[in-house]
Parts: sequence; structure tokens; C-alpha cells
Amino acid sequence: MTEAAARATPRFRRLLVTGGAGFIGSCFVRDRLARQDGTTITVLDKLTYAGNRANLAPVEADPEQAARLRFVVGDIADAAVVGPLVAGVDAIVNFAAESHVDRSILDPEAFLRTDVMGVHVLLEAARTEKERATRGQRATAPRFLQVSTDEVYGSVETGESHEEDPLDPRSPYSAAKAAGELLVHSYFVTYGIDTVVTRGSNTYGPYHHPEKLIPLFITNAIEDKQLPLYGDGLQRRDWLYVADHAGAVDHVLEHGVSGEIYNVPGNNERANREIVTELLRRLGKPWSLVRLVDDRPGHDRRYAMDDSRLKALGWNNKMRFEDGLSATVDWYRDNQEWWRSIKSGEWDAYYRRQYGDRLAGSREATAEADEAAEVAGLAVAPEAAAKAKP
Ligand code: NAD
Ligand code: TYD
Repeated sequence: MTEAAARATPRFRRLLVTGGAGFIGSCFVRDRLARQDGTTITVLDKLTYAGNRANLAPVEADPEQAARLRFVVGDIADAAVVGPLVAGVDAIVNFAAESHVDRSILDPEAFLRTDVMGVHVLLEAARTEKERATRGQRATAPRFLQVSTDEVYGSVETGESHEEDPLDPRSPYSAAKAAGELLVHSYFVTYGIDTVVTRGSNTYGPYHHPEKLIPLFITNAIEDKQLPLYGDGLQRRDWLYVADHAGAVDHVLEHGVSGEIYNVPGNNERANREIVTELLRRLGKPWSLVRLVDDRPGHDRRYAMDDSRLKALGWNNKMRFEDGLSATVDWYRDNQEWWRSIKSGEWDAYYRRQYGDRLAGSREATAEADEAAEVAGLAVAPEAAAKAKP
């Protein structure tokens, strides 16, 4: 084996990737298998409304990669399914979660089942495998990587969150994610399970479910539908390109120190209004599509994280935000079949429940539109507001 090939050989070659049919998990699977480094991946995914096998179509279209992928439809909270899968791998990468804050406000229970109990079931399987390793029934115990979120820190008015800061989750989603990662830490301390945790920031890119801000606004704008901006639209998020998020998770899997937590920021902090302006400019659509609607209850104002620990581990993001946003807009323009099939069926009931009353009582963003449009060099077209569909 050449030195380059030896360097390229991953430490963990047989992976269980849960939630591998979702947005970030599928990017991880596509990118890792495309590297052709001998990795084999079992995806365990329940295929909830957010899971989509089409996200793995590029893998399945390539016979060499497809041969290294096994897809299991199942629930991470189902011990009978999880046990045998964990027995056959070197590492578990847990992307599986209920992931949308607004849905957690409508129906919190599924979040507890998957983001807390599901993590517990996976950890118990890892514990069983560690005991088998201790008895000499397998060579090494599996590593457990928990994909968590910056939302566990709660709203950060100023400065940046560090990994040792206290957690202050404020939505059912972030509370469930915090509980999940605290359980992971407890299994490191109590049972000596080899764990690592990543806390990623707001992620964007291709294959993102259209319920989230960026893909919702791109696809609604393409359809000349109204864009429901919560509150004053001045909430701030730190945007991370999906391939950088997946790459950082891979890097931490390979190199992370056992028991450690790693922030994964994008270092692209923007107000929601700025994001909307940037999207409309790329799409050539007017600001008058935007409607100010009732705010999300408990809406976190800002997230921001310090990246020194991840940098010290040797990871740097690659995608410039302006390029990532353009690539994302292009992808949604070119892959309308993908998102139009998601924006049907169950989608309509969800959309009515989440946005029906909000849009009915919405306000034009006129004054703000003029200002934002001027900054972005856009023409304001008030007649488009009248024509925009709810
Ligand atoms: P997603 O909603 O797009 O995908 C989640 C996947 O998990 C889906 O394929 C779904 O079918 C699957 N799933 C849900 N419940 C399951 C269960 N009980 N058993 C098995 N599979 C199940 O989510 P995403 O945006 O790709 O996020 C992936 C992970 O990253 C999550 O843990 C999320 O909390 C975390 N995260 C996301 C972001 C973001 O901005 N999207 C940021 C930071 C962290
Ligand atoms: P979202 O994509 O749901 O991610 P998160 O809640 O995890 O940050 O939302 C990103 C930001 O956009 C957040 O401040 C809420 C806001 N937002 C809207 O203003 N309107 C919308 O319809 C959605 C979905 C989000």
C-alpha cells in the first residue's frame, strides 16, 4: 500500500449511519462512499416524512458504491433492529432525529421518542458490544458519534458558545437533543463507551427538506408563493454548508478525542432578513413576496459558536457562503421534481397548520422591503405582492 493510500485508509471502515436518508446523513453517506476508501455503510432509517431514499440515488446509480451500501428501514428506538446492526460495525454515526423546531412546538412527543429514547437504545447496543469486546468476542468496541446542534446552548445574545458552556435549550427540539447528548456523555463516564459529540450550526445545501427556512423560501419563491418571515426577521443564525458539516463529522469520527464535544460552526452569521434578500437576488424575485407573520414561540434570537477546538483537531470548512448559497439555489431550480414530490400529500396539512393563520394575519414587509431591496439592488414590485399565493 502506498503512503497516500495508507493515509487515506479510514480508522473506522464498517459504519452504521442512522438517519442516512435525511439531509446531512445522506450527504455523509454519498461523500464517504464516493471516496472509494473501502468503507461499507449500513444505513438505518425509519423513512419518516423527512427521510427520502432518493437522497441516496447517486450512490445507488453507481454499482461499486451501491455494493458497499446496505439500507435498512427501521427505528433507532427498536432494540431488536438496532442490536444486530451494531454488532457488525466499528462505529455508529447517529444522524437520526426529529429535526424541525416548528414541528417540535406542534407535536413534541416524537422528539422525545427518537432524539432521547432512540439515542438510549443505540447506546445500550454499544454497551453490549463493549462487553463483548471485553470478553474477547470482538476485536474492539464500537465508537459512538452523536450529531448534536448549537441549539443546545440556547439563545446567545452576544459572544460565542464554547463547548464547556452550560446548556440552556429552549424548544422541545433542542431540549430533546440536549438530553440525547447528555445521555451519550453519561455512557462515556459510566460505561467507558468511546463517544464523541459534534454540535453543528444551521446547515444548508442540496437535499434539504423544504420545511426549513432556506429551501422553503427558495421553493416558495420559485412558485411565486408568499414567504412567511417570523417576527421582525432579525434573528441571527450561523450558516454551514452541508458538505462541510458532513466532512467535519467524518473528521471528528476519525480524529476526535474520546469523550470530547466539538462545535462545528459555519462562521457565516447572518440575520434572516439578509438571507431572504440574498435568495431573492439570486432568484430574481421581488421582496414583496415576503410576509411578516406571527413569531415562533420561544424563538431563539441568535446562535454563534467558537471553533477553536475543531480547528485544533485539523478541520477547516471549504465552502464560501456566497458560493454555497448560489449552488443551493441552482440545485433547487434544477431539481424541482425532488422538492415538488415532497411538497405534496402530508405537506399540505402541515403547511396549513403551521402557516394558515399566520399568513391570514400577515403584514407586508413594505418599509423593510424598500430598504433591503435598495441594499440588494433589487426592484421593488408591489403588484407582485398582490399576486403572490399564500
Ligand atoms: P433530517 O430531518 O433531514 O433527517 C433525519 C433523518 O432521520 C430522516 O431520514 C428520518 O427518516 C430519520 N429518522 C427520524 N426518526 C428516526 C428513527 N426513529 N429511526 C431511524 N431514523 C429516523 O435531519 P438533518 O437536518 O439531516 O439533521 C441530521 C442530524 O443533524 C440531526 O440529529 C439534527 O439534530 C442534527 N443537526 C441538524 C442541523 C440542521 O441545520 N439541519 C444542524 C445541527 C445539527
Ligand atoms: P429553521 O430553518 O427552522 O432552523 P432553526 O429553527 O433550527 O434555526 O429556521 C431558521 C430561521 O428562520 C429561524 O430564525 C426561524 C426562521 N424562519 C422563518 O422566519 N420562517 C419560516 O417559515 C421558517 C421555517 C423559519
